[in-house]
Amino acid sequence: MADLTPYPDTFDLGRGSFALFSPAKINLRLKVLGKRPDGYHELDTLFQEISLTDRIEFHPSHEWRLEFEGADLDAGDSNLITQAAKLLAAEAGIACKARIVVQKHIPVQGGLGGGSSNASVALIGLSRLWGLNRPAEQLHPLAARLGSDCAFFLYGGLAHGQGRGETLDLLVGRMESEVLLVVPPFGVSTSEAFSWREFSLTDDEKSVIFNFRKRKFIPSLSDLDVFCNDLENIVLDRYEELGRIKRLLLDAEAEVAMLSGSGSCIFALYSDRTRAMRAAQQFREPFQVHVCHTVSRPRPAL
Ligand code: C5P
Repeated sequence: MADLTPYPDTFDLGRGSFALFSPAKINLRLKVLGKRPDGYHELDTLFQEISLTDRIEFHPSHEWRLEFEGADLDAGDSNLITQAAKLLAAEAGIACKARIVVQKHIPVQGGLGGGSSNASVALIGLSRLWGLNRPAEQLHPLAARLGSDCAFFLYGGLAHGQGRGETLDLLVGRMESEVLLVVPPFGVSTSEAFSWREFSLTDDEKSVIFNFRKRKFIPSLSDLDVFCNDLENIVLDRYEELGRIKRLLLDAEAEVAMLSGSGSCIFALYSDRTRAMRAAQQFREPFQVHVCHTVSRPRPAL
């Protein structure tokens, strides 16, 4: 797999500054096995990195500064990037100083993991900027504290997630596909989507082991029973437009069309870019579309 680039994609800006690309994900599979005593839900999920990215610049600085371009986001203490920076600085026993500039392209509250990705890529970038050079495995516990799907964004590619989503098997298999994202003009809150249905955690469900647990599992578009999202019907019940988008995409020759995570984006998989582009053309304002593709990453040998 020598043709795969290491994660995350990096760009040197000179004078100690650099930019990292912070990717979005889709969930090819999202099984909700039940609600746990701690309030979170036990998941069985397949995370897939896609080529839609934010871009995060890291600059040496004498103070802490976080700036956003392209979206009106709170850059204060509630932002996951600030929380990631403080967590890493505290853990390393150093001052939290850097200037970070985020160019946002990933839709917010779209089920694409943009905020989680930014937090984990901030951990990677600050670890580099501050000379800590921690490997992803050492940043993993910090990422898991920041959010359930943050840990995936330390590795990218294709991964099987369990637990809250933070227990990962990095898969060497690749899923090559064009991806069309349809973004509606509203977001869905993950915690609300999980609260709209009672998921009970039974012993039977806990013991289920799906056949894609094997590290070499390669989901292909022909394994259609892999693709499912237990949050989809719940979210589509509340937002009829999303069901209409899904039907339009399936009518437009999508191999798969599904809600991404807890929504609000619907993604469609195409083996052929021309078809994806053609399908994209039927959506107008206030819907946004992105045609991108899945991204595979090198994995350490077993
Ligand atoms: O972990 P994170 O803060 O990203 O999760 C946001 C919310 O989504 C949680 O507060 C919880 O309500 C819900 N969630 C869940 N089970 C998961 C992941 C998230 O119930 N495995």
